[in-house]
Amino acid sequence: MTAHLLKAEIHCHIEGAAPPALAEAQARKYGADTSHILRDGAYKWSDFSEFLVCYDAVAALFRTAADYALLTESYLLELAAANTIYSEIIVSPDHGDRIGLGADAYLSGICDGIHAAREKTGIEARIIVTGERHFGPDRVISAARYAAKAKNPLVTGFNMAGEERMGRVADYARAFDIARDAGLGLTIHAGEVCGPFSVSDALDLVKPSRIGHGVRAIEDPALVERLAELGTVLEVCPGSNIALKVFSDFESHPLKPLKAAGVRVCLNSDDPPFFHTSLTREYEIASKEMGMPDAEIDAMTRTALEAAFVDEGTRSRLLSRFDAGAA
Ligand code: ADE
Ligand code: ZN
Repeated sequence: MTAHLLKAEIHCHIEGAAPPALAEAQARKYGADTSHILRDGAYKWSDFSEFLVCYDAVAALFRTAADYALLTESYLLELAAANTIYSEIIVSPDHGDRIGLGADAYLSGICDGIHAAREKTGIEARIIVTGERHFGPDRVISAARYAAKAKNPLVTGFNMAGEERMGRVADYARAFDIARDAGLGLTIHAGEVCGPFSVSDALDLVKPSRIGHGVRAIEDPALVERLAELGTVLEVCPGSNIALKVFSDFESHPLKPLKAAGVRVCLNSDDPPFFHTSLTREYEIASKEMGMPDAEIDAMTRTALEAAFVDEGTRSRLLSRFDAGAA
């Protein structure tokens, strides 16, 4: 059992955290049809492309700042109830613009949710603004500009998610330059749907301190060595990888080999209800399916806190809280 372990995650998409029951309630509220995205209380998709379409359709059910506050607060309360002390939420202000809510209202709803959850439970959270690759370089660059100008103390990082097979990292490098110049932490989805070249491109052109997934680096031993030498943290999401068939089962999942090779790794839930998982389940997977002892799981939680996009005062408070409560 890992219920007693203190937890942290640094990779979860806010709309991807919407439980089907909440999505259904939102659909009722707006009179929206969900038959194409929901069946028997579960999200309906069969491959990565369909997953992205389903994700965007679920996201479209959250339409006001209050909807986003509710979604964010409920997710963080669930995490806090599972002994989670820190969470980084990936958000897309560009999505807020696309649905007519506006980026500012979208973000302020999410901030309200974070404040409410912190007030009730003490959970600490930060926001990573993401650009979505399948909407093209211009949209990703405007997401970076938005994040750079936000001057919002909760916005501390920049990411790129979406269809990894669209274009090459070079097409999007400018967005990361803008975010880096603004002092934001950098992470990028790579090595999930695409192979090691995508991770190498990210290291060469973005120089992020973290990579979302990155697990397909395992196909290139020299790249694994490079990641270990650089100390790049991989935000690993085992349940997501199995659901999306990046690997066929937990036995062939590279979390343990990467860790054994000296790569810094941590556990994350990505889009939990889409992949029939939760952060608690990811910890259970590491423990039960992969046979990792509590000390190794704690080491991954520590890595998440070390790699978190927070100021150093907050980091040392989180690490002290973690060290005081670790197994
Ligand atoms: N957006 C939401 N979840 C994602 C994932 N697993 N990969 C890429 N983009 C995403
Ligand atoms: Zn992700």
